[in-house]
Amino acid sequence: MAYILAIESSCDDTSAAVLQDDLLLSNLIASQKVHEMYGGVVPELASRAHMQNIVPVVDSALKTAGIGKHQLDAIAFTRGPGLLGSLLVGVSFAKALSLSLHIPLVEVNHLEAHVLSHFLRTPQYHHAPSFPYLCLLVSGGHTQILRVDSPSDFTVLGGTIDDAAGECIDKAAKIMGLGYPGGPIIDRLAKEGDPSAFKIARPRIAGLDFSFSGLKTSFLYLVRDKLKENPDFIQQNLNDLCASVQTAVIDNLMEKLVLAAKQTGIRQVAIGGGVSANSLLRSRMEQGQGKYGWEAFVPPFSFTTDNAAMVGMAGFFKFQEKRFCSLDAVPYARG
Ligand code: KG4
Ligand code: ZN
Repeated sequence: MAYILAIESSCDDTSAAVLQDDLLLSNLIASQKVHEMYGGVVPELASRAHMQNIVPVVDSALKTAGIGKHQLDAIAFTRGPGLLGSLLVGVSFAKALSLSLHIPLVEVNHLEAHVLSHFLRTPQYHHAPSFPYLCLLVSGGHTQILRVDSPSDFTVLGGTIDDAAGECIDKAAKIMGLGYPGGPIIDRLAKEGDPSAFKIARPRIAGLDFSFSGLKTSFLYLVRDKLKENPDFIQQNLNDLCASVQTAVIDNLMEKLVLAAKQTGIRQVAIGGGVSANSLLRSRMEQGQGKYGWEAFVPPFSFTTDNAAMVGMAGFFKFQEKRFCSLDAVPYARG
């Protein structure tokens, strides 16, 4: 049995978690409100906020778990991809603590952590896929379909050639003058809207790759043209606009996932990343069980957007195999 402290600081959430093997004891997240007024994450402000948050967040994670730092067996941290300044705060903190406690460090890839979040166990919840499974990873920075053959064997079957799905949804929200991040706001407003109210160009990319920039531009032109005729167009059609753009994005994600399942013959199908919090995507996944004969894996909300629990889970897999990293490890922005 091992106690692992995990740290996540790749973007604008400072998070720390404590795991006892795969059992989650605590998972704290300090979100940064400072970015809202800018309509997106400001990297310099993000790293400063991480510096302020990291000590109290780690302290609270240990206290909530009821664990003293001297009981820890390893520290897992997100090494990349993400914002370099943000990552640097988590990486430096993890190194310093591991050095002072004389315990090993485990580096974790943020995307792999999202994909492995399904293995987390809580006292109320455990629903893990078996290998191999497919995972649609959809976040603000990434849109990929992966085949997962083991905790260390990932094959990217397809990815976006331009914008990520979350980025597209956030930009649509910005066009409508909604706040940041736009995903949860669009999700809420879309519930009252008609998804067929407006025609938005659907991506036409062959195979398992994605493209969302055309969809985004089509939405921009639609709003721009309608505003010329009616300056109150957005306010008067907000719910329908949200439902139309959300459905266009989610339809495309599901279309590709269905194709990937067909091509590979894999019936264990998962979603992960911030956009997997989307209620339409989640209900489409549930329907997939009956419609396509899948076993669907939809993570609990707290494991969808960025969190250290998933970093701890990915870290625990590596810890078991003694795949530690050295104090020389530096963050990476891409990959
Ligand atoms: O995984 P994540 O927290 O950070 C990255 O690694 O990028 O994902 C953030 C993204 C944002 O684009 C946000 O708008 C989107 O996830 N998101 C949602 C929902 N909740 C968060 N998108 C659609 N519907 C939601 N309910
Ligand atoms: Zn993420």
